[in-house]
Amino acid sequence: MYLFLKLLLLLPAIQLLCAYTTENECMFQDTCERCLSTHINCSWCTDKSYNVRYRCLTRELLLAHGCGVDNIYENEPEMHTLKDAALKDYEDNDERAIQVQPQRIFLKLVKSNTQRVKLSYRPARNNPLDLYVLMDLTWTMRDDKETLVKLGAELSETLGTLTDNFRLGFGSFADKPAMPMIMPDLSSNPCASEHEVCEPTYGYRHHLALTSDVSSFVKSVNESRITGNLDNLEGGLDALMQVIVCPAEIGWKDEARRMVILVTDGFMHFAGDGLLAGITQPNNKQCNLSKTGEYLGTLTYDYPSLEEIYRELLRRKINVIFAVTAGVVSTYHELSGLMKEISNVEILSTDSSNILELIKRSYESFIKRAQFTDNSPSFIKLAYETDCGGQYDRLRQRNYCNNVQMGTQVDFYVNITLIDFPKDGVYTHKIRIEESSLTEYLEIELEIQKPCPCNEESVPDDEYGRFQCTENGYLQCGMCQCDEGWTGTFCSCSTQGTNTTTNEAIEMSCREPNLDNKAELNPVCWNRGECDCGTCLCLPGFMGPYCECLECDVNCDPDRADCICGKCVCKYGWSGTRCNCKESFDGCIGPTGEICSARGSCLCGTCECYDSYRGNFCEIDSETENKLCTFYEPCVTCLIEQKLGTAVCQNISEICSSQNENERFTYAFITEEIDSDVRCLARIENQHGIKCDHFFTYQSLGQSENYLLIQANQCEPVNKVAFIGFISVATFLLGFLIILLAWMCIKAKDAREYARFEENQRNSVLMESPIYKDPITRYEVPKVLKQSNSNPFLD
Ligand SMILES: *[C@@H]1O[C@H](CO)[C@@H](O)[C@H](O)[C@H]1NC(C)=O
Ligand SMILES: *[C@@H]1O[C@H](CO)[C@@H](O)[C@H](O)[C@H]1NC(C)=O
Ligand SMILES: *[C@@H]1O[C@H](CO)[C@@H](O)[C@H](O)[C@H]1NC(C)=O
Repeated sequence: MYLFLKLLLLLPAIQLLCAYTTENECMFQDTCERCLSTHINCSWCTDKSYNVRYRCLTRELLLAHGCGVDNIYENEPEMHTLKDAALKDYEDNDERAIQVQPQRIFLKLVKSNTQRVKLSYRPARNNPLDLYVLMDLTWTMRDDKETLVKLGAELSETLGTLTDNFRLGFGSFADKPAMPMIMPDLSSNPCASEHEVCEPTYGYRHHLALTSDVSSFVKSVNESRITGNLDNLEGGLDALMQVIVCPAEIGWKDEARRMVILVTDGFMHFAGDGLLAGITQPNNKQCNLSKTGEYLGTLTYDYPSLEEIYRELLRRKINVIFAVTAGVVSTYHELSGLMKEISNVEILSTDSSNILELIKRSYESFIKRAQFTDNSPSFIKLAYETDCGGQYDRLRQRNYCNNVQMGTQVDFYVNITLIDFPKDGVYTHKIRIEESSLTEYLEIELEIQKPCPCNEESVPDDEYGRFQCTENGYLQCGMCQCDEGWTGTFCSCSTQGTNTTTNEAIEMSCREPNLDNKAELNPVCWNRGECDCGTCLCLPGFMGPYCECLECDVNCDPDRADCICGKCVCKYGWSGTRCNCKESFDGCIGPTGEICSARGSCLCGTCECYDSYRGNFCEIDSETENKLCTFYEPCVTCLIEQKLGTAVCQNISEICSSQNENERFTYAFITEEIDSDVRCLARIENQHGIKCDHFFTYQSLGQSENYLLIQANQCEPVNKVAFIGFISVATFLLGFLIILLAWMCIKAKDAREYARFEENQRNSVLMESPIYKDPITRYEVPKVLKQSNSNPFLD
């Protein structure tokens, strides 16, 4: 009964399903938070008077089902641009270049929903450049200083080719003036050993703040004095740290590209080396310069670590060029490798004459690289894509580009996703996406949509609310608050006698365990049904403990098959896609007793022959052999022999019956030619020893019915005597004929000869002398006289 009610309640769900298949995930979400994070279009109704069971639907459906407009919570992502100045080059001194667009946007993020932001970057021409030259002025570097002075005019020319707006600053360093970095007795003139007079050793001295006046730079370099120390390790990092952290003293301009060129021929002291001189306090990363530019902390603080330098460089967007002599270059390569994007190593010739060239090269390499990073909190994910201004034919997932040419625009697309709600309850954030060596950035003012804030007062005895919660609880913000002893979305599950007492525990038992990834939960009842106190009630069309299976086709007859997770699995003795095929070999067993002549498989009572075989039982070979012809042949032979009376057929019932069932073949003799595709041959030797060909055909329904049509031929031998007689008579007649012909020829010849003789005779008489008279007179008695002479006298 209860189940029936539940199914009745499911009915509107089915209607909804039919209408909105794509958003049906919403429907079964039974908390507001889960509802909103399921799909961007899922909305939650908190209206008390709303009487449809499903409170998580699309806004349109909720309205259509009578949820009040003011009682709908929905996802409302937003994005609008607050500042969007166009990219531009540096034009005159009081206007900044714009290299990143847009500059500020507002984003309202919704959980599990991604928003895509386009960010454009173009390196500006004539963008201000601040270049601070930080020089090692220990004894070995004295000629380098002179070179720099000599290069003065060229310096301004070279920098002028890079940008119209450059400024130069100058500072120098040696090392901490303490043992063992110096010899105490030479502290007033460390160069005494070289028989020269020079400046007492100092840590770092800032000589000239950044200025566009090249002549004062040259002057400042010229006036600086060489000093000295003992070891080949200098205090460069101490100096570098001060250059970075004293923006006011150095004069770094906010919008400028900032570069420090550190010129040295020695190695560096790192954090911890201060201990040698008894200095234990770690570097405080604070500006510590006197009015005259002297570093005051040199004997107080240890050297900074490389990591500290790196962080400060990144934070303050300063690039470093290590211009070092060939002897120490490999060390600096390693060092620069740890801070790739903001540093560069160049080999300085021994007298520094190539310094301009390497400044130019470094500047260009810094410009060519564009890398954007952000400071987003862990629950917000940013994914960057770019084609690097057409360098690639499609977008690639990366946040940097190399080889960006001056004047080309590079677009980055950033997908911003709220993965989770902030744990600390702070729902507004500011995120900066900035280029790693420029001070320009895109600022995102971010608002995170809260998970269903509901301020409704609870009315525990509201009648309708209790009805909605199975009389075991009341509604608040559209959700049931259950009384003691009850749980579940609708407070319909008793907590007695079970250890699943919370909604979460109940839901867990309605989620199919995710074996691939334990951290990720599968949806409750796969969003295809309702979790009823830990059991899934699936929508029509679905089945399985978690509604994970489709229902079977209607043709899956339960008498013949079992429906197993959407698949119709045939019971024993049945086969076929609909299991309507009786699985027996009856129709496949030929009279020989073999299934499909062992040349095919029996499907649904019919032979499916392999490749080249044919026939109802695959008996016909593509060549000539026919298994059934061979099988019937003994029987046919026997029948023919019996008919001709040439032999007595033994065991005929055995030979002329099918293999297993001993069913006798039916046969008939015919006189006409066999008219059939299949014509079998039986070659039988008759009593005269003559091999005689007979033909037959067959029709077989397997073991039971076999029909044979036999065309037996008469092959009588020719009589020997008659044959010899015929030959003799023929020979005789032929001989006689020849003789006759010869005789006739002779006869004809004789006649001709005689005629000629007579002719000659006559001619010879004529040719006798006329006076010759034959002495013989011939006389002939008249005929009449002869006859009458015998007859009248007798009368
Ligand atoms: C960013 O979002 C778009 C669509 O919104 C998507 O096609 C793209 O694959 C996403 N990129 C990344 C890196 O997530
Ligand atoms: C709940 O109780 C059953 C036995 O009744 C037990 O097998 C199961 O592990 C328990 N589950 C939890 C989460 O305690
Ligand atoms: C005929 O049958 C007998 C016994 O019934 C058997 O011994 C004999 O081998 C059979 N002959 C043939 C040719 O099958």
